[in-house]
Amino acid sequence: MNIILIGPPGAGKGTQAKFLEEKRGMCQLSTGDMLRAAIKNQDPLGMEAKSLMDAGKLVPDDLVVRMIEARISGPECGNGFILDGFPRTVPQAEALDAMLARHGKHLHAVIELVVDDAALVERVSGRYTCAKCGAGYHDKFKPTAKAGVCDVCGGTEFTRRADDNAETMKTRLKAFYDQTAPILPYYKAKGLLRQVDGMSAMTEVTAGIEAVLG
Ligand code: AP5
Repeated sequence: MNIILIGPPGAGKGTQAKFLEEKRGMCQLSTGDMLRAAIKNQDPLGMEAKSLMDAGKLVPDDLVVRMIEARISGPECGNGFILDGFPRTVPQAEALDAMLARHGKHLHAVIELVVDDAALVERVSGRYTCAKCGAGYHDKFKPTAKAGVCDVCGGTEFTRRADDNAETMKTRLKAFYDQTAPILPYYKAKGLLRQVDGMSAMTEVTAGIEAVLG
């Protein structure tokens, strides 16, 4: 099964993609994670993206389209893929259609996580990640069991994203409403769009997604 998770920054796309990856063996294809990895590795592509990402702006379409195409037919996606953070513009959605046709694949659902804007700043401001294994946490909603120690690998160093602050969130939200929200009617017209309440507890959001996927 191949799906898109769509929603504003902090809606829970990454959190839910990880659950689906574990439960269904699907692969998570997050353009944000791929770009952050490219920055960490000091790839030219990452260097091109860094200042835009730090400012909360979108990176050029062709850059993310190339990254997704390189992964979409990989062996890790044999049980289907979850697109997280892609597509984010109408040209990206059109490029995805052409790409899927080239690879003989199709989408089963586009799931919109619906969350109040007011909740998003609190979600991203409290987010942190284990520097060793990448496990994700939240100060209030998903703290580590033991303060300062990663539940998964025992790591004791954590990182916070440069773009996870109230000021940059204004630009990220504007980018979502101006450039990403216009793709919702595109998928609605294709009969693929489903909405799930992203305001409930994480496990309830997962249940909502599972209900859509059947
Ligand atoms: P990206 O990494 O995709 O960030 P984003 O879309 O802003 O989304 P986030 O990762 O911030 O949020 P999320 O929805 O995954 O939430 P999460 O599950 O972590 O993109 C970053 C940047 O890269 C962009 O600004 C752009 O510059 C560039 N980029 C990426 N893709 C691009 C593209 N296709 N085109 C152009 N540019 C691109 O949850 C957030 C927090 O809330 C977590 O701490 C979590 O624990 C908590 N939480 C989750 N669910 C719940 C819940 N139900 N209740 C309470 N807390 C919850």
